[in-house]
Amino acid sequence: MSRREIQALDYVITLIYERSRIRMDRSKEALIRSRLGKRMRALGILSLPDYCSLLDSAEGAVEIGRAIDALTTNFTHFLREREHFDFMVTEALPRLLAPNQKQFWVWSAACATGEEPYTISFFLEERYPLADGWNWNIQATDISTRALEKASQGIYAGERLAALPKAWGSKYFQRGNGNWADKYRIKRHLQERITFKQLNLLEDQNNDRVFEVIFCRNVMIYFDRQTQERLVNRLSRVLVPGGFLFTGRAESLNGLTMPLRYLKPSIYQNPE
Ligand SMILES: C[S@@+](CC[C@H](N)C(=O)[O-])C[C@H]1O[C@@H](n2cnc3c(N)ncnc32)[C@H](O)[C@@H]1O
Repeated sequence: MSRREIQALDYVITLIYERSRIRMDRSKEALIRSRLGKRMRALGILSLPDYCSLLDSAEGAVEIGRAIDALTTNFTHFLREREHFDFMVTEALPRLLAPNQKQFWVWSAACATGEEPYTISFFLEERYPLADGWNWNIQATDISTRALEKASQGIYAGERLAALPKAWGSKYFQRGNGNWADKYRIKRHLQERITFKQLNLLEDQNNDRVFEVIFCRNVMIYFDRQTQERLVNRLSRVLVPGGFLFTGRAESLNGLTMPLRYLKPSIYQNPE
């Protein structure tokens, strides 16, 4: 690799860290090249240094957003780390909700392409059916506009539903016709319970509501400890007293200074 190529790679690594606190290094060169390659081809740019010159120019702001979209990984699937959804409806909410409380909020804080908030909605609908007067809502946020666009469409290929109980296919999805025969759309009454919006977890949030449960899973793994600590403290401030935080199974908050109490791996509770 030429010196110019190395400098370009380092430029991208620094940019992604500054914007999203995702730590990449030179060992991720292939991933960076393949993800940015799509953007470069779309723009007719042949080399990484030339692409970085664009990012660095006065006209680069929009392209920086696209580069970050391309680089942040949106991997997710329905029913991922199922124990959190089970715990939410069998332990967290039954313990938390006051006897007459029919309304509550859940936040999916890095919702990627929507599988996580929709899985939350399926579990809530099973245990707290809207038809019985329950009034739950889900806020679903992500930094990636591309992922959010897919999430708010709520349309998935049939194979993506394989992880879900079979009966949920027709209960919670509408199957497409003709060219869309292998596509499934989330039913409207569930989709209406979810508000999708762009939000960078590293920026101060003007959240005017509090949540009974927050899912912040498989995103903190990219952040350094200091950033994790700041984020977790911010999340705890928008959790109701006694509210629950789920992190990804691979994400331990061990050693962070925070008010949340450890319950079991990847499950934390705000003090009552
Ligand atoms: C691996 S996905 C996790 C999706 C889902 N929570 C799950 O566990 O399946 C990580 C998501 O975090 C998002 N993300 C990365 N940095 C972020 C930030 N600073 N603020 C908000 N979302 C971020 C990415 O765009 C991506 O959609």
